[in-house]
Amino acid sequence: MKEQPIGIFDSGVGGLTVAHAVKQILPGESLVYFGDTAHLPYGDKSADSIKSYSRRITEFLLEHNSKVVLVACNTASSSAFDTLRKEFNGKTILIDVIDPVVDYLSTRNFHKIGVIGTKRTISSGTYEKKLKEKSPVTNVVSLATPLLVPMIEEGFIFDDISNAIIRTYLSEKSLTGIEALILGCTHYPIIKNQISKFFNFNVEVVDSARIVATALRETLEKNNLLNEKSKVSDQFFVSDYTPYFEKIAKMFFEGNINLKRADIWS
Ligand code: DGL
Repeated sequence: MKEQPIGIFDSGVGGLTVAHAVKQILPGESLVYFGDTAHLPYGDKSADSIKSYSRRITEFLLEHNSKVVLVACNTASSSAFDTLRKEFNGKTILIDVIDPVVDYLSTRNFHKIGVIGTKRTISSGTYEKKLKEKSPVTNVVSLATPLLVPMIEEGFIFDDISNAIIRTYLSEKSLTGIEALILGCTHYPIIKNQISKFFNFNVEVVDSARIVATALRETLEKNNLLNEKSKVSDQFFVSDYTPYFEKIAKMFFEGNINLKRADIWS
């Protein structure tokens, strides 16, 4: 089983931030990545739709022999993870992107934390609930920032448009005085520098990529599933081909990537 790949999914390029960190922290592993670009953005969809997409993608990743499935999407982690855990219980190991971040924050001493994410993630209240259960934080301010995913997927980063959108969202009064800001969407690390700069680097901007990759490493070690040297190459699948996905994937994985369109819905 050690030889089997790690399955990872997201609605689009966001999960590549996590996949990239996984390759850095676990260089001996190979990946099977699925970007559900046909249904992007997930943040505007109903919880039922997200559950059904996540279920089918998990099956697809298991058909491709994944030894674990990493839900590299906050929207799916907040709306579908409990369902996946029940339905795939005993069939695979599932990891989400929210619990490892909450565990990390429980070791810090923040009092006021901000969370930004998609409408679905924020309306689920998952971060707020879990942070209050597990960490000493007393004040959690959540803000939906729905324009950020389409902005990133359309390639608006480090320009006037992205600066204006980021500034407008983060100027929200309720965020005043936060000590840390959780990037509650795996797309957002792509604009992490712009966000840190908005706060003059005075707020800890917490992105899940390395935290989740470290949690994955611990899980593999605990289950004796760690692969030191994979013999197979990484595979990338999308439900709809977009040149931007390929461009970002090549940026993260330097050079040639094996990208295929997989029509898993018909
Ligand atoms: N990257 C995703 C997340 O972490 C999905 C965003 C979307 O498709 O709306 O929530």
